[in-house]
Amino acid sequence: MAGRPILVPGATGSTGRRVSAHLTSPGHPVRRASRHGDARFAWTDRETWAPALEGVERVTGRPPKGFRRYVEQAWEGGAWREGRR
Ligand SMILES: NC(=O)c1ccc[n+]([C@@H]2O[C@H](COP(=O)([O-])OP(=O)(O)OC[C@H]3O[C@@H](n4cnc5c(N)ncnc54)[C@H](OP(=O)(O)O)[C@@H]3O)[C@@H](O)[C@H]2O)c1
Repeated sequence: MAGRPILVPGATGSTGRRVSAHLTSPGHPVRRASRHGDARFAWTDRETWAPALEGVERVTGRPPKGFRRYVEQAWEGGAWREGRR
């Protein structure tokens, strides 16, 4: 299953590892993002958001409270879909 990657913030953690495995198992490409992950990403460093979000199909998870701008940025790029819970 090729296509654009799905962004998994916190992919090096216990939850993110499981989310990534769940996605890669049927063949979804995954972009593993964290401060020390494949794709450098830090909630507190907005400069890292755009490169992580660039070209992704969707994002998993939710940002910590206070990072609404991240949701807006993901929405603008089409990666935050209507109806997600
Ligand atoms: N995408 C997802 O669906 C997803 C993924 C993970 C967690 N979560 C949610 O996050 C919560 C805690 O997860 P957990 O139990 O997996 O915790 P955990 O094992 O402690 O892992 C935390 C993860 O977040 C990363 N992280 C920590 N501080 C960060 C920061 N400032 N900026 C960016 N990344 C940071 C860590 O990697 P580094 O140290 O390399 O930054 C690590 O990958 C849970 O409520 C879970 O539902 C969701």
